[in-house]
Amino acid sequence: MTTRKRILTGDRPTGKLHLGHYVGSLQNRVRLQDEYDTFVFVADVQALTTHFERTDRLAADVRQVALDNIAAGLDPEKTTYFIQSMIPEIAELTAFYSMFVTVNTLRHNPTIKAESQQYGYADLSYGFLGYPISQTADITFCKADLVPVGEDQLPHMELTRKIVRRFNDLYKPVLPEPQALLSDCPRLVGLDGKAKMGKSLGNGIYLSDPSAVVAEKVNAALTDPARVRASDKGTPSVCTVNTYHSVFNATEQPDLAERCKNGSIGCVACKKRLCASLEDLLAPMRERRAHFTAKPGQIDEILQSGTAKARLIAQETMREIRDAMQISYF
Ligand code: TRP
Repeated sequence: MTTRKRILTGDRPTGKLHLGHYVGSLQNRVRLQDEYDTFVFVADVQALTTHFERTDRLAADVRQVALDNIAAGLDPEKTTYFIQSMIPEIAELTAFYSMFVTVNTLRHNPTIKAESQQYGYADLSYGFLGYPISQTADITFCKADLVPVGEDQLPHMELTRKIVRRFNDLYKPVLPEPQALLSDCPRLVGLDGKAKMGKSLGNGIYLSDPSAVVAEKVNAALTDPARVRASDKGTPSVCTVNTYHSVFNATEQPDLAERCKNGSIGCVACKKRLCASLEDLLAPMRERRAHFTAKPGQIDEILQSGTAKARLIAQETMREIRDAMQISYF
């Protein structure tokens, strides 16, 4: 038997997932699970770096993000899905790695800098500053070879590789050096055409939105503001709906853009076509969502068995880590 390469990636549980998440990461991991030994997890400890004061919604958010992933096509038969905080070995590894990562290295991490600005942190908590170390533990407890991430995560991947090399050098070469697998999809713009699709911006279509809500949002989407009548000649390059066609309706998009330019299709009809394409994508997700919520406790069972499997791997790795460090006492 040839052993497949292992991939690992995770999401912070910050609420329901939208089309931007689908295009940027979910779609990719759904594809990858057929080819790789796939581990996906909910980064609830990492969520605490910014939400430690509000833990009341965390449990619901963990289940929400799991259900969104599974509805999007992540197959629990193929993918090991687990909860970060339920793998105590991740915390153990974090402590060991922390000994040889300097505060200066962490401080210079551009993603940490950008995020601390975004959250308005002048004085960083120890956990926040150090979360890239915890991320290294996430990746290495199961010896992942590849890590599907967005561009903002590259500094963390660089640190991960550095920690792995250092560990292997200091003690024994037990850890493989993981590689980032960058998603090649550009960021999806929000329906307002202004920014990226974002939870806080109110401009997103959620994977769990019913058809009527999707239609309502698409109808309100920004098009070419210079176009008043359906017969006006339009400029698709400034139209959000055109951008969405190129992502979700790529075969029809060139023709629709052409007809927009010569004024032979109006925005209302064009939006109808987009709704149809989005339905093709979202309807099977709704079906899977219904299937997995029909019996209560199914998502919990998936998370529990995935966590149990990940835990066994973590314990095995921990034995090797402790042996390498010469701290296997008994
Ligand atoms: N930091 C990632 C994010 O904010 C989530 C994450 C945590 C992660 N640990 C990871 C991603 C390990 C990949 C591998 O999106």
